Amino acid sequence: MVVANDFIPSNYSSSIEKGTFKWSAPSNIALVKYWGKKEHQIPANPSISFTLNNCKTITELSFERKTASSDDFSFDLLFEGQPKEDFKPKIQKFFERVLVYLPFLKEYHFTIDTQNTFPHSSGIASSASGMAALSMNLMSLEKVLLPEMTDEYFYQKASFLARLGSGSACRSIKGNIVEWGAHGEIPGSSDLFGVEFSRSVHPNFQNYQDTILLVDKGEKQVSSTVGHDLMHNHPFAERRFEQAHENLSKIKAILETGNLEEFIKIVESEALTLHAMMMTSMPFFILMKPNTLEIINKIWKFRNETQIPVCFTLDAGANVHVLYPENVRDAVLQFIKDELVGFCQNRQYICDVIGSGAVEF
Ligand code: DP6
Repeated sequence: MVVANDFIPSNYSSSIEKGTFKWSAPSNIALVKYWGKKEHQIPANPSISFTLNNCKTITELSFERKTASSDDFSFDLLFEGQPKEDFKPKIQKFFERVLVYLPFLKEYHFTIDTQNTFPHSSGIASSASGMAALSMNLMSLEKVLLPEMTDEYFYQKASFLARLGSGSACRSIKGNIVEWGAHGEIPGSSDLFGVEFSRSVHPNFQNYQDTILLVDKGEKQVSSTVGHDLMHNHPFAERRFEQAHENLSKIKAILETGNLEEFIKIVESEALTLHAMMMTSMPFFILMKPNTLEIINKIWKFRNETQIPVCFTLDAGANVHVLYPENVRDAVLQFIKDELVGFCQNRQYICDVIGSGAVEF
C-alpha cells in the first residue's frame, strides 16, 4: 500500500537553474460525490468522476533559482496575464502543505501564469483544474531533479499533491473516469490520490456528454471548506458515508454493463443527496435556485416522454450538469435549446464531454 511518506523524495540527483513548463488540466464532474473530509484532505468516503475535456485550466510555471536563500516562498501569480493578488493566499497555503513532499519549493522564485477556458465567474469551480494543472507543472520540475522517476510515480504524486490543494483536484489528472478513496472492491484505490477506473467501460459511456447549464454564475454561497465541515456532527453523516461506498460498488458494475437506467438512478440520487446533506446540516443551506428545480422537472418530463436516457447531476451550487450518451446528442441538444436555456443566466451553457486528463504543452 502506498503511504504519504512514499512521496517524500530522497536526495535529488540532478539540478536546474531556470526554465518553464506548461500544462492544462480539466475540471471533473463527480457521479458519486465527495462531501466530508478528515484531517490532511482525507475524504470521508470514496468518490468517482468523469474527467471533462473542454473546461480546463492552462497554467505556465516559470522558475528561477534564488540567488540568496530565504526561508519564504517566493512567487508571482498572474491570472490571464494580469497580477492576481487574491489567489495568492490559496497558493501560499498549498505550498506550505506540500513543502515536505517538494523540498525544492523554497529554492526557486516562481511565476505562475494561469487561465481558464470557461468564462470567469461562470460559477464553475476552477480549484480542481487549477490545482491539478499547478501540480503537473511542479511534477515536471521534480522530474528534472529526479530523472529516474517512473511515470506511475509522476502521475500518482501529481494527484497526491493536487488533493492537498483541493480534494476533487486529485480526480483531474487522469481520464476518463477516476476513482478517489479507499474502496474494498477497487484494487489500488487510495485516500491519497485518484486512480484511473481500470475496468473495461461499456461503449455507452464512450464520449459521454456533459452540458453545463449556468443557472447562477454568482460567487459560491458556501465555500467547500465550510461545506465539508458541515458533515462533522451531521446527524446523517455516517449513513451517508456508507451509502457512498454502496453506490460506488453499484456504479462500478454499471460502468461495465452499460445499464443506463441504473446509472441515472445512482447519479441523480447522489446529486440530491449532496444537496439534502446541506439542507439538513447546522447551519443549513439551499444551494439550488428555482431554475435548478425547473430544469430538473423538465429533464424528468422529457425523459419520461421520449425514453431518452438523459439525467442531471449537481455540484455544490445551482448549476446543472446534463449528462447523456453521445448517440442521443442531437435530440438532447435540441431539447436543451428549446426548453432549458431559458432557465440559464443570459441563456449560457457549456458543452463538454468526457476527456482524458492533463496535457503538457
Ligand atoms: C460537491 O474538492 O472543492 O464538488 O477539498 O475543500 O477543496 P476541498 O473541496 P472540493 O469539494 C468538491 C465537492 C463536490 C463533490 C465532488 O466533486 O466530489
